[in-house]
Amino acid sequence: MKKTSKEAINSFKGFLSRDLTRREFLKALVSSAAVLSVLPFAASQVFLVPKQKKIEDITIKIGNVNDLKPGEGKIFWYPEENAETPQFSNLLIRMKTAPDVYEFRAFNRVCTHLQCLVDYDSERYKMICPCHAGEYDPDKGTVISGPPPNPLPIVELKIDDNGDIWATGIKGVIGRGR
Ligand code: FES
Repeated sequence: MKKTSKEAINSFKGFLSRDLTRREFLKALVSSAAVLSVLPFAASQVFLVPKQKKIEDITIKIGNVNDLKPGEGKIFWYPEENAETPQFSNLLIRMKTAPDVYEFRAFNRVCTHLQCLVDYDSERYKMICPCHAGEYDPDKGTVISGPPPNPLPIVELKIDDNGDIWATGIKGVIGRGR
């Protein structure tokens, strides 16, 4: 059976503290070599493998309350600012409330039908999928009509004292996007 690093180190300590037979000496030598060969690899892994962040740990500023008039929307990127990746594409929509009421919703744009990217139509006040005319409600992201089987994933928002809007997480499963 293969020795763990700890066992190998213990056996090497034993080697240092007592008289050994030739067989024991060789055994300890092989164990020590095994530890030394693994150490540089283990150390490099600490630096090479980036720590995976969970989406709920990622907070990105996506705009300010004054960027949109009531009923308007805009696209933003989250959890990464990467316009090349469709599944990071989201919609921020300001609800059609009074001009001095700042109420916002945000949704991932990947349609839950066959993963086209939905657009926001401010005139019709709906999110619409260009592929098969699926329609979503901009208040809750639920399906109004068409083939989508599920609501759009919700991007969670926080508004700070300066009126800056932050995306702080996503509720729901994002598709691949296309
Ligand atoms: S992909 Fe959106 S409705 Fe079909």
